[in-house]
Amino acid sequence: MRAKIMETFLAVLLLMSAAGYIALEATAEPQFTAMYVFGDSLSDPGNNIYFNDTLTKANYWPYGIDSDIGATGRFSNGRILVDFIGEFLGFPLIPSYADTVAKGADVLLGVNYASAGAGILEETGHHFGHVIPLGQQLSNFKTTLNQLSNQMQEEELSNYLAKALVFVDMGANDYLNNYILPGVYRSMSTYSPQQFADLLINLYTGHILELQSLGLRKFFIAEVAPIGCIPFITVSRLTPSGKCETYSNNLVQIFNSRLKPLVYRLNSDHPGSVFTLCASFQLFMDVHDNADAYGFKVKDGACCGLGGRKGACLPNTVPCSNRDEFIFWDDAHPTQAANWILANLIYNNTSYTSPVTIQQMATM
Ligand SMILES: *[C@@H]1O[C@H](CO)[C@@H](O)[C@H](O)[C@H]1NC(C)=O
Ligand SMILES: *[C@@H]1O[C@H](CO)[C@@H](O)[C@H](O)[C@H]1NC(C)=O
Ligand SMILES: *[C@@H]1O[C@H](CO)[C@@H](O)[C@H](O)[C@H]1NC(C)=O
Repeated sequence: MRAKIMETFLAVLLLMSAAGYIALEATAEPQFTAMYVFGDSLSDPGNNIYFNDTLTKANYWPYGIDSDIGATGRFSNGRILVDFIGEFLGFPLIPSYADTVAKGADVLLGVNYASAGAGILEETGHHFGHVIPLGQQLSNFKTTLNQLSNQMQEEELSNYLAKALVFVDMGANDYLNNYILPGVYRSMSTYSPQQFADLLINLYTGHILELQSLGLRKFFIAEVAPIGCIPFITVSRLTPSGKCETYSNNLVQIFNSRLKPLVYRLNSDHPGSVFTLCASFQLFMDVHDNADAYGFKVKDGACCGLGGRKGACLPNTVPCSNRDEFIFWDDAHPTQAANWILANLIYNNTSYTSPVTIQQMATM
């Protein structure tokens, strides 16, 4: 009898340790090998700060006020979305391209090429001065690729690339800092909203396919978020408090409605690759509409900016003190608190990414 109990006890112990071993294996399992980020100011970790000839850099106080790393050029009071996604995946902070260029082993866990003000179109954002359009971000990735190929054998490199996460979030500036600025850019007088969206999607498709042809296989592609909700737009267009401006939102939805079938087609044309689409528009609207539930008291004003609702976050502007209660840090970018919530929903909520979440993609 006693022997029998002992036997069962041992069997249970064995099972438990096997389960423990599996659980450990699952968490210790290397997920993605690296994270490569292409984007605009929502993802820029400071690539623009090395340019003297640009107006879009956030390397001054109070940017980064809530961050242990200070004002790095991130457009927030602290961490940005990709910082949190990287953290959930177990990566250290992914360095900016400008910071790592030609530094060998520093690029092994990924590089961030994003540039504030930049878009899919070459010309987008040029009124700010020097920004890095998507095409140039891609060229910069090729420089990284050269460095990688000096550090790995061919087969190792192709396995590495196939397991790297590509995070792409582009297009907002092609509207904000191009199409809806007819005083500066000719696109509105040249293209209908539909034609403009087609133009962007065609270019975007080419760039994504090029990354795929270089050996990358796991893509996260974000829709353009509702730009009509940012204080920069709601204030200048006198949108009623708490509401978003529908004209700009409708414009980006034309782009988004074309992005969805594109991602669907990319998946069916490239069976060995995964492209997951983030419904950034709905995601942001849900957080905006349910601001209270997410702990935000202010959804239409900027924490840093003249008089709250209006103005850019200029050097030495004293920001609000209840920063975690604001969705917007400055007139166009979320607070660290909002970035954290958005990152969580993007990471593992099946309502906002399809066909898979980032968490699921990591295990594929
Ligand atoms: C930017 O300006 C600084 C200070 O004036 C100068 O030292 C630096 O060489 C400039 N950088 C570039 C890329 O022009
Ligand atoms: C994922 O989802 C759960 C809720 O199901 C949440 O508690 C968790 O913190 C989320 N985020 C991460 C990064 O795992
Ligand atoms: C995922 O998002 C949906 C839609 O906002 C929400 O209803 C649901 O509670 C979320 N699930 C988790 C596990 O957070």
